[in-house]
Amino acid sequence: MDHSLRRSTALKNDQPEIFYTIDNLRKFLVTARDQGKTIGFVPTMGNLHQGHLDLVQRASDLSDIVIVSIFVNPMQFGVHEDFDTYPRTLNSDCHVLTDYECAAVFAPTVREIYPKGLNTEIDVPSLSTILCGHHRPGHFKGVATVVCKLLNIIQPDIVVFGNKDYQQLQIIKAMVEDLLLPVQVIGTDTKREPNGLAMSSRNAYLLESEKQLASILYSALTKIAKAVQGDTQIKTTLRRQKQLLINAGFVLDYLEIRDAKDLSKTYVDSDTAVVLVAAKLGAARLIDNVIVHLSK
Ligand code: PAF
Repeated sequence: MDHSLRRSTALKNDQPEIFYTIDNLRKFLVTARDQGKTIGFVPTMGNLHQGHLDLVQRASDLSDIVIVSIFVNPMQFGVHEDFDTYPRTLNSDCHVLTDYECAAVFAPTVREIYPKGLNTEIDVPSLSTILCGHHRPGHFKGVATVVCKLLNIIQPDIVVFGNKDYQQLQIIKAMVEDLLLPVQVIGTDTKREPNGLAMSSRNAYLLESEKQLASILYSALTKIAKAVQGDTQIKTTLRRQKQLLINAGFVLDYLEIRDAKDLSKTYVDSDTAVVLVAAKLGAARLIDNVIVHLSK
C-alpha cells in the first residue's frame, strides 16, 4: 500500500472522539476498516507538545484515520520514578488535537489495559538492558509490553514514534519484526526548542534557567557527531564534552557513540552511528541523540 497517497479523513477543528474502553474503540475501528480506511496510530502518555503533534501530522499524512492513545503506563516506571506525578492533561490534550486530523483518542484506565495485573511480558533483551535500560531496569519491558497490547487493540497500518526516544524506537522495530506484527513502524525527526533542547513532556520539570542550560546537551551531541563524521579526535571530543556537561551541573547516565542499527559499541564498520545521551538536570532526566551517516 502506498501510504503517501492517503490523507486523513478527520477534519481539522473536529474534536476527536474519546474512547475509554477497548470494546468501544474496536467498534469504531471496525466501521472505519469496513469503509476501507487505513489507520495510523500515535502512542503517547499525554501532556502533548509540538513533538507529539508532529507525529500526529505525520500519521495523518500517511493514513486515513489517526488514533492517538493517551495512557500513562505504570509498567514502564521504576518504583522511585515519576508515575504518580507524571502530568495528566487529557482535556487540554484533546483540545490541542482539534488543530490536527485526529479522529479518536484512546484513553484507557490502567485496569482496562491490565485487567488481571501483569502476567505476560514482552522483552527484547539484546536492546533493553543497555544504555537507558541499564539505568532504568524493566523500563523497556514495560514499553514493549504496552505497545504490543496497544498494537493488538488498534491493529493500525502504521505506528509513528519520535526519534528522540531512539532506543525505544529500535526496541519497537525489533519487537514488530520478531513477532511478525503487521504494522509499519515510522520514526520522525526530533522536534527542538529554538535553543536546540529536544521537546519532551519531562522538560516541564526544568526551571527556566535549566531550560537555557539544557541546550548544551544538543551542542555536545552535534560536536561529537561532527568528530565521528570527520573521523577526527573522537575520543578527545567525547571526553571534553562529558567534562563540560558535568561542570555545567548535569549528572550523566551515559554519553556514547553506538551503531545506529543494533546499538552495539562497534559502530566503525556500520554506515550509520548514533550519539546518545541521558543526563539528569535538576528534577528532570533528559535524553537526546544525533544520527551520523558515515562516509565510507
Ligand atoms: O514514548 C512514550 O511516550 C511511551 O514510552 C509510549 C511509547 C507511549 C509507551 O507508553
